[in-house]
Amino acid sequence: MPPITSILFIGDVVGRAGRRVLRALLPDLRDELGVGFVVANGENAAGGLGITPKEADELFRLGIDAITLGNHTYRHREIWPYLAEERRIVRPYNFLPAQPGRGTTIVERDGVTLGIVYLSGRVHLQAAAPPLLAVDAALAEVARCDQILVDMHAEVTSEKVAMGWHLDGRVTAVVGTHTHVPTADDRVLPGGTAYITDVGMTGPRGGVIGVKREQAIESLATMMPVRFETSTEDPWLMGVLISASQPPRADAIAPVRRPAPGVT
Ligand SMILES: [Fe+2]
Ligand SMILES: [Fe+2]
Repeated sequence: MPPITSILFIGDVVGRAGRRVLRALLPDLRDELGVGFVVANGENAAGGLGITPKEADELFRLGIDAITLGNHTYRHREIWPYLAEERRIVRPYNFLPAQPGRGTTIVERDGVTLGIVYLSGRVHLQAAAPPLLAVDAALAEVARCDQILVDMHAEVTSEKVAMGWHLDGRVTAVVGTHTHVPTADDRVLPGGTAYITDVGMTGPRGGVIGVKREQAIESLATMMPVRFETSTEDPWLMGVLISASQPPRADAIAPVRRPAPGVT
């Protein structure tokens, strides 16, 4: 039997509440689920929008192997030089080459290498190149890895479903992020690629995709500017656990969704 690699992918960590629930649950989840690699989307880690070196360092101290970002990547200027220096944090590959950071990275645990490819959709999001065209060059950068995880950050389901089919049989997993709402379509595709359209968020389920719900409702009801604050109500950890024994193919994918300790 070849060794089984397990990868816990954690959906968008939103604000202080998201970081707190992650910190509270991750150590026990590692033991309970036999987790090897942990990859987290951190695009909302700083106050709900973007990330600074402080939150990135905090996530790495929790033992997270790599961080993916998204459309809020450059919100905080302090992260720009960090993206150039720290190899374990990635912004979408299909951004402009001149934009700071990289779109792929490789991490290693116990002699197993995991390549991470990060792509952004283009419907309602800004990305320089179509992800379906950019992905081949990105995959070439991680071609020698034992396992390959692709995070597809997109607003609409169709762009993510299409990427899943496009990469079926070529990578271990394609996981979707950005909408903060988990989808119920987790499965291993016929070619052996684990897939889910959206992992959901690690953050306050009591808000509207992270924002205090009163403010989101007021904004939508009045169509007037409203100052948004990040909710802290009812934080959950949302992710998926992917297991793989053949490189780079998945055996299984399963959602991992847990409320903060003490919440019933
Ligand atoms: Fe996003
Ligand atoms: Fe997000």
